[in-house]
Amino acid sequence: MTIQAQILELIKQLQRSRDVAVIFISHDLGVVAGIADKIMVMCNGVAMESGTAEDIFYRTQSDYTRRLLDAIPQGAKKTDSRIQPDVRLIQASHICTWFNDYSGHKVRTVKAVDDISLDIQRGEILGLVGESGSGKSTLGRSLLQLVPTKTGTINFDGTDLASLSSRQLVPWRRRMQMIFQDPYASLNPRMTVYQTLAEPLLFHGIANRSNIDAHVQQLMDDVGLARAFIRKYPHEFSGGQRQRIAIGRAIATKPEFIIADEPVSALDVTIQAQILELIIDLVERHNLTMLFISHDLSVVRSIADRVMVMYHGAIIEQGATESLWRAPQQDYTKNLLGAIPIADPKSERSRAEL
Ligand SMILES: Nc1ncnc2c1ncn2[C@@H]1O[C@H](COP(=O)(O)OP(=O)(O)OP(=O)(O)O)[C@@H](O)[C@H]1O
Ligand SMILES: [Mg+2]
Repeated sequence: MTIQAQILELIKQLQRSRDVAVIFISHDLGVVAGIADKIMVMCNGVAMESGTAEDIFYRTQSDYTRRLLDAIPQGAKKTDSRIQPDVRLIQASHICTWFNDYSGHKVRTVKAVDDISLDIQRGEILGLVGESGSGKSTLGRSLLQLVPTKTGTINFDGTDLASLSSRQLVPWRRRMQMIFQDPYASLNPRMTVYQTLAEPLLFHGIANRSNIDAHVQQLMDDVGLARAFIRKYPHEFSGGQRQRIAIGRAIATKPEFIIADEPVSALDVTIQAQILELIIDLVERHNLTMLFISHDLSVVRSIADRVMVMYHGAIIEQGATESLWRAPQQDYTKNLLGAIPIADPKSERSRAEL
């Protein structure tokens, strides 16, 4: 059982055994379909509609709920792959990233990334899935050398990043960037949009004092932020807009490689769909290569050309997205795919009874 399924099961058990009422707050309609008896849909502080799970999903009244249901990612990737065959951008061999865990009596070694080798072609969107704690973020951070790797080589366009000092890495930082799940944590609350976007441009010498304004405005256009917002601070924006700022900062240096670590996990489905569209658009316009990390398999299916499945620090299975969906080889992958929540109360419940 996946971690998510275990936690949901635990909530259900406690609800029954202790006979308590639960208010379950979520933007995941599939999860809600499986767990809730009654549902209330909220938008801008207003209850748009409420009713039984069947009412909401099968006899939808409000346009807003309809839009939410329509925005759930479904099916295969809709845009063509832009992979340049035989042009490898990244080749990592035998990387290990281990941590010391001091929480117990004895120091324990956590093998967050344990002997992983992988290739990423130019233009490819590689999906990385796996449960919480499987090591996805650590693998991403290792590739960018944001965390020291214990062993292994990370060949980026012909240079082994793992052999470079942090000073030698600076020019490479411009070519590879990261987008995080929580733009609140990754954006400096004391910096305006202008400052946030200008900083990497000036630091890497892409713009100078005389043309910086034009560069920042261009970036805001690129990520769909109105220029009127330029002097605002992160807290004055919605989650989706904040993620646009973070994406703008990541693409400011015109990188070739971006790691998007759960970039839409904190967003509700309609905003999620907009940000995914923006990411796909930027990948095409700027010829990006991307490692897309997510525990939401439907999202990964809708965006990735190829998918790797991670479990306990290792890659246990990989393949072209649709082939993997059609014929997963490992039981673990089958379980992951089987556990994807479906926004349909009947199928969710019949699965729970199995
Ligand atoms: N800086 C650190 N120090 C010690 N242990 C760490 C550190 N970073 C990660 N770990 C451990 O490494 C393992 C993998 O963590 P990681 O964050 O890479 O997983 P993940 O797959 O990204 O999980 P999630 O889906 O929850 O984001 C976990 O056991 C975690 O506790
Ligand atoms: Mg993570």
